[in-house]
Amino acid sequence: MRFETFATQGFLDLKKQNHAVSTPIYANSAYSFDDVEFAVNLFDLKQEGDIYSRITNPTNDISEKRVAALEGGIGALSTSSGMSAILIAILNIAGAGDEIVSTNKIYGGTYNLFYKTFKQMGIDVKLIKSDNLDDWEKAITPKTKCLYTETIGNPGIQVADIEPLAKLAHKHGIPLIVDNTVPTPYVCRPFEFGADIVVHSTTKYLSGHGNAMGGMIVDSGKFDWSQNDKFKMLTTPDESYHGIIYNREFKEAAYIAKARTHLIRDLGCCQSPFNSYLTIMGLESLHVRMQRHSDNALKLAEYLEQNENINFVHYPLLKSDKSYNLAKKYFKNGASSLIAFGVKGDCVKFIESLKLFIHATNIGDARSIITYPAGTTHRQLSDEQLIEAGISKDFMRASVGIENIDDIIEDVEQAIACAVKK
Ligand SMILES: Cc1ncc(COP(=O)(O)O)c(C=O)c1O
Repeated sequence: MRFETFATQGFLDLKKQNHAVSTPIYANSAYSFDDVEFAVNLFDLKQEGDIYSRITNPTNDISEKRVAALEGGIGALSTSSGMSAILIAILNIAGAGDEIVSTNKIYGGTYNLFYKTFKQMGIDVKLIKSDNLDDWEKAITPKTKCLYTETIGNPGIQVADIEPLAKLAHKHGIPLIVDNTVPTPYVCRPFEFGADIVVHSTTKYLSGHGNAMGGMIVDSGKFDWSQNDKFKMLTTPDESYHGIIYNREFKEAAYIAKARTHLIRDLGCCQSPFNSYLTIMGLESLHVRMQRHSDNALKLAEYLEQNENINFVHYPLLKSDKSYNLAKKYFKNGASSLIAFGVKGDCVKFIESLKLFIHATNIGDARSIITYPAGTTHRQLSDEQLIEAGISKDFMRASVGIENIDDIIEDVEQAIACAVKK
């Protein structure tokens, strides 16, 4: 099956779901055991099957398998939100005393997790301010457990150079984790360029309608966790499962198996089956929506670029953009919906004059959304941190929806006129 067919029908087993055409929502907490031996084997991880919906659920199973296949990975784990996907993806291989190397140009929530919460947990995240690989390499120490980046940085809209980052990570015997929320696998598949783990906020484009919080962790299955002694959590016995060694028991599926049976079991940030269902509904039109998001965003970016009342505009597929060459290398099917731009005149007036764009802090919704990061998502950052993250006071982020492009441009045009009116 090709991408579009997989997005729509992947792992649909009509017989298994009583011939219901739409994936059912298994809204149950627990599953009955045929006999005690079966239950014992399930608890010892010797037998595949469902015990309790915190760990596995048949609706979640479909969304996990579908996203894993769309990314070209071997397995996936759904979580309650994008933040919990990032948290679990990292806690699965790092603990107190360990380090991570990332960039400071990442989503504000991830920045806070790295800068504050991980610090409190004893994990030191080095946030690199430049794109220079030498700076990344200098920050790597024997304690570093992974490199972390976003394919398209939110809200800076800069494209990561995934291939050399993956090579650098592998040179040091560590994986590259990539947040692929903004492009989705329709635009970019980071595993094809050497990334090892992909995380998603499925809240955004994968579910696509701004109605289902969720996250997903996908494993390429290619990273060898036993190549050095850095990943003892996967290569030495886990006493909470009678000494099971994930790497030995689950082979290339060890990373997701451990994240599910250890961390989701203990931390409990599983995805609700109802949200998985909504995500599956979203996945079924992913390719259609993403193409329209990308086409509309490019047209709006081109319009903004020639407007004299705009200070700057970033969209990876504008020839003038600093990420243009990287976008050409890594992306197919456009560059997703995010545009960053600065309006001359009164920013507050601009936002408040928009009629079609909804003022909210979300992306990847079918509806067009405008966000003012300095006043909302990045409000916790100091002035210095804002400048370092490339967010000026006039910085706007648009997530361009799938409405008619003429309506979108007309809305922005009239709001710009209001912003510059003396
Ligand atoms: C790139 C990126 N990653 C992760 C997240 C966090 O996802 P969630 O809001 O589902 O926790 C967001 C949220 O905006 C995001 O934009």
